[in-house]
Amino acid sequence: MTNTFCENGRASSGATHLPSQETPGEVTSLRGLIESLSDAGRLVRVSELTHWRFDLGRITRESKTPLLFENIADYPGQCVFTNGLRTIDLIRLALGMESGTSRDDLIAELRQRIARPVRPRVVETGPVLENILQGSAVNLLTLPVPQWNENDCGRYLGTWHINVTKDPETGQRNVGVYRMQLLGPNQATVSTAPESHLAQHVAKAEKAGRALPMAVAIGVSEAVIMSAAAAYPYGMDEYELAGGLLQKAVELIECQTVNLEVPANSEIVIEGLIHPGVRVQDGPYFDYTGTTNTNPAAFLFEATQIMFRNNPIFRGTSIGIPGAEDHQLLAILAELSLLDFHRSSVKKHIQDMVLKQRLLRWTSTD
Ligand SMILES: Cc1cc2nc3c(=O)[nH]c(=O)nc-3n(C[C@H](O)[C@H](O)[C@H](O)COP(=O)(O)O)c2cc1C
Repeated sequence: MTNTFCENGRASSGATHLPSQETPGEVTSLRGLIESLSDAGRLVRVSELTHWRFDLGRITRESKTPLLFENIADYPGQCVFTNGLRTIDLIRLALGMESGTSRDDLIAELRQRIARPVRPRVVETGPVLENILQGSAVNLLTLPVPQWNENDCGRYLGTWHINVTKDPETGQRNVGVYRMQLLGPNQATVSTAPESHLAQHVAKAEKAGRALPMAVAIGVSEAVIMSAAAAYPYGMDEYELAGGLLQKAVELIECQTVNLEVPANSEIVIEGLIHPGVRVQDGPYFDYTGTTNTNPAAFLFEATQIMFRNNPIFRGTSIGIPGAEDHQLLAILAELSLLDFHRSSVKKHIQDMVLKQRLLRWTSTD
């Protein structure tokens, strides 16, 4: 893959890279956010040679600034973006709000926005369709996937991405963030809490003796990541929540080999299957708690297709230190009563009921 995007932080050819549904500088795409941060003087471009093994993670952890790594060892021309939500002010910018307002004002504004979810819109085409590789042509090792920390056992494909699946019985969609360790050219783990919505989908698929289709989107708007990380009641659509946060419908395209929908302006989309009845070890991984964590019973994902924008920007993050961007995000979600690690079923049940009632009082706008 060659990359001209990184040379100046803008798409090399406006006509090709910024189709009608994407306005430059809008935070509805990762690329738009990067452009906004650059225009606001908030983006640091790391042009020195940086190694995907440890360097990227260390520099990310040491910085409180959004970073665009433009010179990655073994991956000439490819970019990695980190730290987009590293401070409260960056969260404001990622949601298209004014910089510098008070934290209370931010929370009040977000409460209003999440009470007005906006349904996603399926569109015919999107920039992620610019490149499509299938079957034996799929090689995840061509992506600059970092080994973020010395304590990690390997490279992590999924740290700031979304996993999209559907309930095999009802067809209801779930969008979550569940870490993924790269295992080979077309394989990765998916590590979830047993009560997570994705784990419930796998359990239903396994009961029927079937694989579970899954799409992974890397490089989506931060509003979509925030919504995927939120404890949204089972069966409610995280893309609607993201639409609420942005007050604009998330534009989706249909995947090609699986019956799932992903943001049309994703940088990278990987389609594939979670194999039924198979468990693999994920980790050790340096987790948000600041300690390593191993999941001996992670799911096994096999990629069957990869789609990516011209000159894709890989998005990930390095966590495990106080104040890392996952902490910033989780703190905001907690204040919005949208945080749950699936540990207390009673608490979650009450929270889900309250949330459902609150949201259903408002009708979505198309
Ligand atoms: C950066 C980040 C990484 C996360 N990694 C995981 C993970 O590996 N496994 C997991 O079960 N939850 C993880 N979470 C928390 C889930 O995304 C969160 O519990 C979400 O509500 C899950 O969606 P669900 O309720 O639809 O299952 C992560 C959250 C963030 C912000």
